[in-house]
Amino acid sequence: MDADSVFTPSQELATQAHADDAQYKALYEASIADPDAFWDEHGKRIDWIKPYSQVSDVSYDAGNLHINWYADGTLNASVNCLDRHLQSRGDQTAIIWEGDDPNDHRHISYRELHEEVCKFANVLKANGAKKGDRITIYMPMIPEATVAMLACVRIGAVHSVVFGGFSPDALAGRIQDCDSNMVITADEGVRGGKPIPLKANTDAALANCPDCTSCIVVKRTGGNIAWVEGRDVWYHEAMQVAAADCPPEEMNAEDPMFILYTSGSTGKPKGVLHTTGGYMVYASMTHHYVFDYHDNEIYWCTADVGWVTGHSYIVYGPLANGAVSLMFEGVPTYPDSSRFWQVVEKHKVNIFYTAPTAIRALMREGDAPVKTCDRSSLRLLGTVGEPINPEAWMWYHEVVGEKRCPIVDTWWQTETGGIMITPLPGATATKPGSATRPFFGVKPVLVDGDNNPLDGAVEGNLCIDHSWPGQMRTVYGDHQRFIETYFTTFPGRYFTGDGARRDEDGYYWITGRVDDVLNVSGHRMGTAEIESALVAHQHVAEAAVVGYPHDIKGQGIYAYVTLVAGIEASDALLAELRQWTRKEIGPIATPDLLQWAPQLPKTRSGKIMRRILRKIAANEFDQLGDTSTLTDPAVVDDLIENRQNR
Ligand code: WTA
Repeated sequence: MDADSVFTPSQELATQAHADDAQYKALYEASIADPDAFWDEHGKRIDWIKPYSQVSDVSYDAGNLHINWYADGTLNASVNCLDRHLQSRGDQTAIIWEGDDPNDHRHISYRELHEEVCKFANVLKANGAKKGDRITIYMPMIPEATVAMLACVRIGAVHSVVFGGFSPDALAGRIQDCDSNMVITADEGVRGGKPIPLKANTDAALANCPDCTSCIVVKRTGGNIAWVEGRDVWYHEAMQVAAADCPPEEMNAEDPMFILYTSGSTGKPKGVLHTTGGYMVYASMTHHYVFDYHDNEIYWCTADVGWVTGHSYIVYGPLANGAVSLMFEGVPTYPDSSRFWQVVEKHKVNIFYTAPTAIRALMREGDAPVKTCDRSSLRLLGTVGEPINPEAWMWYHEVVGEKRCPIVDTWWQTETGGIMITPLPGATATKPGSATRPFFGVKPVLVDGDNNPLDGAVEGNLCIDHSWPGQMRTVYGDHQRFIETYFTTFPGRYFTGDGARRDEDGYYWITGRVDDVLNVSGHRMGTAEIESALVAHQHVAEAAVVGYPHDIKGQGIYAYVTLVAGIEASDALLAELRQWTRKEIGPIATPDLLQWAPQLPKTRSGKIMRRILRKIAANEFDQLGDTSTLTDPAVVDDLIENRQNR
């Protein structure tokens, strides 16, 4: 492939799309020249109970940091996703659910979803939930997960969805952190034909959460589970007696809507808090333009609702836009590695949005599993979660999309609420590996280490100047941490934690995290979190975790472990430590490679030199740079000698 390949939208697509290049440029310029006027106009895509009179009120000044959008407007997010569609498209499918088993699927209309949500909102109330309560959702990818989210926002409760792959300990930590008093789960999930013991995990978590006194359980498999009388309630039993009428709670635009925990470079995961009005405007607007969504198209985002991509682009964005959103319970490789494309053929999917790690894994299986399925319905492809290498991009373009479908490589974060840097299909000429240009209202800036903005074609730390409606508002329960994490390194700007390069055309190329956050198969993991899980083991004295390049996962987890004096390293202990991190955090945190380190390289002031550990893990030990500041340079020779990534 020519490294400078450029793929220009066809004239036909440009004409039919919501924005062509001239429209993108005009709208973008307007959005930067007068953000309030721009967002005033586009705020109207959401139905307000009481309209706003003020658009933004924002200060990035650390001493007085506040972010408000549409602050005096009131609305209800579930009304925007459901009620407002009933008249025009009540019988249209809202959710196509495709089960793990290829014989399982369901179509749920907007009317049915509305009724289910209203009933479940009444169930929540009957079980004591009220406005402002934090409700934890720990669910498989079944429609009831969406019902649970929408029912929470209907009554003004704040949901915290915890990915079903997290361990009981990780779940307990998240329940405790936001003082959640109710959890919604299922007996078991099913993925790739295997059961996932969600209720058993919840039971184990709740043993350490005395204040979480209510647990609603969806029957997914009918598997054997324990039952706590007085605490546990069956979803289907409660729904049978619930009324179908539930007036929505009138929420202020800045009332909290949901919390989503995500990893940072230090400490435990933080509860990213999103509020109601700005988030809904931004999720729905980005879904409309980036996926160029037109009525009745079948749209499929393969993410899990446990991540922000699932929140904004399975649930809130698509449903706010009256879309047909496909929800998939399974995995790309079950029953075989053709599954994604079988689903595309079966449901005639038009727009398909997935992660580079999935593309790389499927690319490895060759073209045949793709080509055996009819993909003629596809017209647009998207990626999210990590940088996509040009080879994977080209395979996606040529094999999956038959060179017919534009690709939108969308850069954004849990914190940003919605897509920030992305092509628009009818407007942007794409380059494989580049997220291209900012969305409306987004002003990226690259700065050097001293916060000086860098002009032209250059690489730097990616910050965003100005606010946008979908921006997170605080870290739940720790506003100081919010300020320190995002607004202190580069004062006056939002710091993303990513590095990026801008080319001569003004296109952005995300180079990856510049902090100690790993991106493993598109999942964010803090090295600090894995390290503290490892040192919690009685035999571990010290641990340092770094990322290393991994063909499929993007980054793999490399752990250096120093054992307590007198403890013998062994394969059995190695297996035990891997198991231990699974238990402490979840399978996604399991180290891929683990090296016994008699000592870790440290500076004279005692800081672990991660730069060196990263180089060794990446097999680049001939480029270690200056090691003269180490207390004992011989430590490094030993680590190189015994490195695992050969
Ligand atoms: C990375 C996921 C390159 C980035 C929506 C970011 C990407 C982190 C891309 C956020 C992309 C996401 N190209 N890198 N298109 N999309 N990232 O919070 O490092 O799970 O900071 O949100 O993923 O991950 P998060």
